[in-house]
Amino acid sequence: MLGNLCLVHAIHSWLPISLSGTNPIVQKCRAEQVKGQKYGGGGAGQCVCKNDGEVCGSDGKSYGSSCQLRAAGAAVRQVRKGACDQAPRITIPPKDIWNISGAQVYLSCEVIGVPTPLLTWKKVSSGHRREKVELLPGDRDNLAVQTRGGPEKHEVTGWVLISPLGKEEGGEYECHAANAKGEAVAMATIHVVESLKDIPTPSLGMKQAHRPDRGPMK
Ligand SMILES: *[C@@H]1O[C@H](CO)[C@@H](O)[C@H](O)[C@H]1NC(C)=O
Repeated sequence: MLGNLCLVHAIHSWLPISLSGTNPIVQKCRAEQVKGQKYGGGGAGQCVCKNDGEVCGSDGKSYGSSCQLRAAGAAVRQVRKGACDQAPRITIPPKDIWNISGAQVYLSCEVIGVPTPLLTWKKVSSGHRREKVELLPGDRDNLAVQTRGGPEKHEVTGWVLISPLGKEEGGEYECHAANAKGEAVAMATIHVVESLKDIPTPSLGMKQAHRPDRGPMK
């Protein structure tokens, strides 16, 4: 089975371990997989799955390979190749920003979903009694929207870049992600302050444990 030691003479020969059902487990013996073990003629290798692409199971879960799916038990069938459809989820929401007029700032938002979600940005301003929602970038020439796939598969990262920051850009921004399975939103606020003294210093407790921000493309 997967991860088991196998004989190196079987390298390059695919061994169908189970041919019953629709998803036979096919493994190959790969010698270089075994750490700390010498590989010479007749040495040991390790079984790996031949079809190592993601698959979607009848239980609605995605598996790293058809072999992993088979290992989940006889009740789970392979529905199709590729990960199962999944509504968008925001993995890194945008952070609130404080800065002065004339500064260069950006908001970023990372989302995941299958199929890969479509990411859009909106600015929400609440004036007298009614809310105005503006799809960005609109016609502002100090504002640009950028989107890039990744860093993970089915993930997409988007940015709103503002330079120079003006009073009108203060307010709430919405990162909106949608695919056929659903949608997700996250909000952040841009505070345009009078002077650098008015910028609150984040306390240690507020520090985020995430991996560092990826900046937008230069
Ligand atoms: C505030 O503006 C300065 C100058 O443009 C910039 O270097 C800095 O990154 C900004 N800070 C934030 C939190 O956006």
